[in-house]
Amino acid sequence: MKSAFSIEDLSLTIGGAMILDGITLEVLENETLGIIGPNGAGKTSLFNLLSGIRKPTRGTIHLGEDDITNISVHHRASLGIARTFQTSSVFSNLTLLENVRIAAQASNGHSMNFTKNAYKFEEIVNHSYELLDQVGLKTQALQRAGSLSHGDKRLLEIAIILASKAKIILLDEPMAGMSVENVPALVEIIRSLATVHKKTVLIVEHHMEVILGLADRIAVLNYGELLICDTPEKVIANPTVQSAYLGANL
Ligand SMILES: Nc1ncnc2c1ncn2[C@@H]1O[C@H](COP(=O)(O)OP(=O)(O)O)[C@@H](O)[C@H]1O
Ligand SMILES: [Mg+2]
Repeated sequence: MKSAFSIEDLSLTIGGAMILDGITLEVLENETLGIIGPNGAGKTSLFNLLSGIRKPTRGTIHLGEDDITNISVHHRASLGIARTFQTSSVFSNLTLLENVRIAAQASNGHSMNFTKNAYKFEEIVNHSYELLDQVGLKTQALQRAGSLSHGDKRLLEIAIILASKAKIILLDEPMAGMSVENVPALVEIIRSLATVHKKTVLIVEHHMEVILGLADRIAVLNYGELLICDTPEKVIANPTVQSAYLGANL
């Protein structure tokens, strides 16, 4: 399988504390990679380095041949790396449809002047409806995004990400704060990111049954180190992982 991106010896020190320590990992195109580890293991910090919010103390991130270690969040997003569940990605005062449409237009490089290209506009609106339909929000398309429940906002964010045409999607605890009955639907939508939309997905999640059901491989972080990255079966059988999770949910 082809590499989506690779990280080499990635390390982060904050105020003398080692947050991430020499992470080396090849993420494959179109795989769903689960990232697990106890609280404070460095999972969110790893996402911060991948999305460009923070710069590593040491090490590199390559997207194909390109070294993207030190490029901006914005530039990275334009290369197709997207992180969800930052509330800033949803405009509360706009409708769901407008939210998705703006992302679709931005990714198509279209200006806001629709009169110039009416046909294209209709196409984008239809595509936006289609994406809302895929996340189960079509009937609410004309509501303001601010009126959505917490869970539905997350679904909207996924529709926005799909509209943006990102290739690599980082999901940091997508199930957090979701009510139990909404989890299975979100799991299926996350699964579709790889199976239907052919994205590369990195997902940090505490619910082991969710990770085990979704991930092609699982990376385990512990105290900022990568313990193992392998198939779910091999990870579960690994004695070091078992001891790191002693008393936890493995
Ligand atoms: N801005 C920061 N300043 C100092 N320490 C931080 C900062 N951000 C995270 N940390 C520390 O880094 C470690 C890893 O945090 P984090 O990446 O949030 O872990 P996880 O997402 O796996 O729970 C924790 O010990 C946390 O306290
Ligand atoms: Mg975290």
